[in-house]
Amino acid sequence: MPGSVVLLGGEPGIGKSTLLLQLAGALAARSGPVLYISGEESPGQVALRARRLGIDQPALYFLAEQDLHAVLGAVERLAPTALVVDSLQTMRARADGPDIGSVPQVRESAAILAHLAKGAGLVCLLVSHITKGGDFAGPKTVEHLVDAAIYLEGTRDGQLRILRSMKNRFGATDEVAVYQMGVQGLTEVANPSTLFLSSGTPGPGASIVPVLEGSRTLLVEIQALVTPASGYGPPQRRTAGLELNRVLVLLAVMEKHLGLTLGMQDCYLATAGGIEVREPAADLGACAALLSSVRARALPEGTVVFGEVGLSGDIRPVRRAPERLREVAKLGFDRAILPVQPLRGKLSLEVIQVKGIEEVAEQLGLS
Ligand code: TYD
Ligand code: MG
Repeated sequence: MPGSVVLLGGEPGIGKSTLLLQLAGALAARSGPVLYISGEESPGQVALRARRLGIDQPALYFLAEQDLHAVLGAVERLAPTALVVDSLQTMRARADGPDIGSVPQVRESAAILAHLAKGAGLVCLLVSHITKGGDFAGPKTVEHLVDAAIYLEGTRDGQLRILRSMKNRFGATDEVAVYQMGVQGLTEVANPSTLFLSSGTPGPGASIVPVLEGSRTLLVEIQALVTPASGYGPPQRRTAGLELNRVLVLLAVMEKHLGLTLGMQDCYLATAGGIEVREPAADLGACAALLSSVRARALPEGTVVFGEVGLSGDIRPVRRAPERLREVAKLGFDRAILPVQPLRGKLSLEVIQVKGIEEVAEQLGLS
């Protein structure tokens, strides 16, 4: 959108520069001059990357610069349609100001660039690093100044990248795109539905959940391991890809309503492919995987489970169940266990609607 400011956040090394260089090349080919500013890489480094990515675009200009006023001068001379600033944390808005990368420098740089974008009808793409140490002014410090904030995330297995819109003045938030990082940079994964399933039939301790990511339904495998604790110290509770606090609540619900004793058991829970799942609909999938591990019996083949689990062991409705079921059926699953909620239209799979967690255990043959 002309005049818009888009923030791209992500951890160092995740692929922000790669993605923006690919985007800048494509934009330059389509809509005229694009200026790519780097405060952290030399022209040689960026040229090497561009060559590797097969970008050979005369309308793409590069400048290695940290002084924001020099950047503004270059923008004035070139009048590009888009400007990439890589990264905000390496821009110096004020020569006599505090350290580069500090909150005031980053905020002021973002504010000046936003003003420039609006005034000149220029698309401004700003990179911001997320660092664990917090010694840097991260993307949250400038999110209020931008029209859209988009984050590039990795997954544990290394090759996949998920691009997620967190704020978007011009369209939907919570949309995701999935990419693969390869020797030719990032390429889109056109059909990511089954990317987060492990290969083969899930064994004991695994469940499959249809998770909504924006307008997509992704099938995600949740894996659990419940195993006797060492007896020294408190039992382990670990998660990857799922929220630990949520899982602790689910464990308590299972103890209470399924009569399990987990106090002497270590419990580990992870999503396949390392995708972050933040949806309540995954509750039931986590419970099913845990229960399956406790009983050392696999879930019935071709079955998916989803639903929010309440504190009293009740299974609560989730949003857009029919969409999830359609995708599940399309991918060849033949049974779904889900909350009692209205489902319009005909579905080509067996639907089992459940009210409580005891019923789920029974339906899965794990009571
Ligand atoms: P980069 O875009 O530099 O990350 P960021 O700007 O977020 O810090 O990407 C860094 C990693 O990506 C680096 O480890 C090398 C890898 N990479 C590839 O695997 N293929 C490629 O074509 C490119 C350009 C980078
Ligand atoms: Mg970079």
